[in-house]
Amino acid sequence: MKILVIGGGGREHAIVWKLSQSRHAEKIFCCPGNAGISELAECISFNNDNNFEALVDFARYEGIDLTIVGPEAPLSSGIVDVFEKNGRKIVGPDKKAAQLEGSKVFAKDLMRRCGIPTAEYKVFTSYLHAEDYVRMKGAPIVIKADGLAAGKGVIVAETVDEAIAGLKLMMKDRAFGDAGNKVLVEECIKGEEASFMAFTDGKTILPMVSSQDHKRIFDGDKGPNTGGMGAYSPAPVITPELEAIVMDKVMRPAIKGLQSEGIKYKGILYAGLMIHENKPYALEFNCRLGDPETQPVLARLKTDLIDIALAIADEKLSGISLEWKQEHSVCVVIASKGYPGAYEKGRVIEGLNDVKKMEDVFVFHSGTSFNGNKVVTSGGRVLGVTALGKNISDAKAKAYSAIEKIHFKGMQFRKDIADRAINKCKMHDA
Ligand code: AMP
Ligand code: GLY
Repeated sequence: MKILVIGGGGREHAIVWKLSQSRHAEKIFCCPGNAGISELAECISFNNDNNFEALVDFARYEGIDLTIVGPEAPLSSGIVDVFEKNGRKIVGPDKKAAQLEGSKVFAKDLMRRCGIPTAEYKVFTSYLHAEDYVRMKGAPIVIKADGLAAGKGVIVAETVDEAIAGLKLMMKDRAFGDAGNKVLVEECIKGEEASFMAFTDGKTILPMVSSQDHKRIFDGDKGPNTGGMGAYSPAPVITPELEAIVMDKVMRPAIKGLQSEGIKYKGILYAGLMIHENKPYALEFNCRLGDPETQPVLARLKTDLIDIALAIADEKLSGISLEWKQEHSVCVVIASKGYPGAYEKGRVIEGLNDVKKMEDVFVFHSGTSFNGNKVVTSGGRVLGVTALGKNISDAKAKAYSAIEKIHFKGMQFRKDIADRAINKCKMHDA
């Protein structure tokens, strides 16, 4: 089969890598891809990211059997609708269903209607009303832009002043444009976060193994939020009992709730959870795989990813049972100097070939390109060094020993990825 993957980050590299191991894979294309992906797929690009008609023409011309969408932006802009209208198989929710990520108000209203446990919230279009409400509620409090804001539209404010500064940024300065037309003010829930992702064809929901992201730039969860600086799987906080509760209280109600409103949700459903006193609260839904969570999760997947993707597209997911490696996995992200602010580009990356020789270590590229025949940095997050190990400490040690071989000027990475899980295991063993 010929497969097209949309996207060009670490998540898409992991998807392409997994697809390339499939017994059905004949040829893989990736749009736009990156330097790492180009080793496994033919990378193509179009001038206009939202020219889905051009992508459909390409898929028709190349005889592509199945398209898989990585990021949220094309899903929210309706790539699935355009492909399906043209009779081409594609995996991902359509534009209506993708509102689950594209509009936080849509997602929260659905959670409220379906009784999904979540933080209490109120929606505002008027700055003054929002400010009054924040003053009345006090801090800590969470301010969220309704629309997509490249992961920057959430402010967890420790003080009322910080919350009001956030409201001003979104509603007066319009820092996120129309994404800030509506703003949510939300109760702050304390606890431990986990990422819960599932494949679904709108009828069957197959949960993936759990994972945990590290959102802050610095060790000890300090500094500003990023797209994610590392992840590991499984997340010990998601016990089998809790997984059953998340399926019952969050995942099934979401899919059923959408269905009862005439929306069929197909693709990946990702719930960002806060676990507080052993109870899950849904902070948000994403309509795609997480990045970097995909890297350690797909590293553990044994089932053929093309079989899964086809079953989603054909609505036959009930015929699939997922198999996972028992090993644990850790992905450490290496970022450019300056990230998550303005960052450097074009730095030559050395040592990648040395890491290729290591067993159970995979370097997924997030932001890389070629300068001549040299691989150079081209994004904020550059590489996701991912390792499998017999336990979480072993996986962590392998990932960090691989990083020792990699170098580019200004590279930064967290030293404490997976420590939370390792400490939990130690407490458990003690
Ligand atoms: P979101 O994009 O909605 O997942 O928010 C980004 C990050 O903000 C989350 O991963 C949490 O760390 C934090 N966050 C969001 N909502 C809340 C909340 N209600 N209480 C505490 N932290 C939150
Ligand atoms: N790593 C968080 C996300 O993909 O949204």
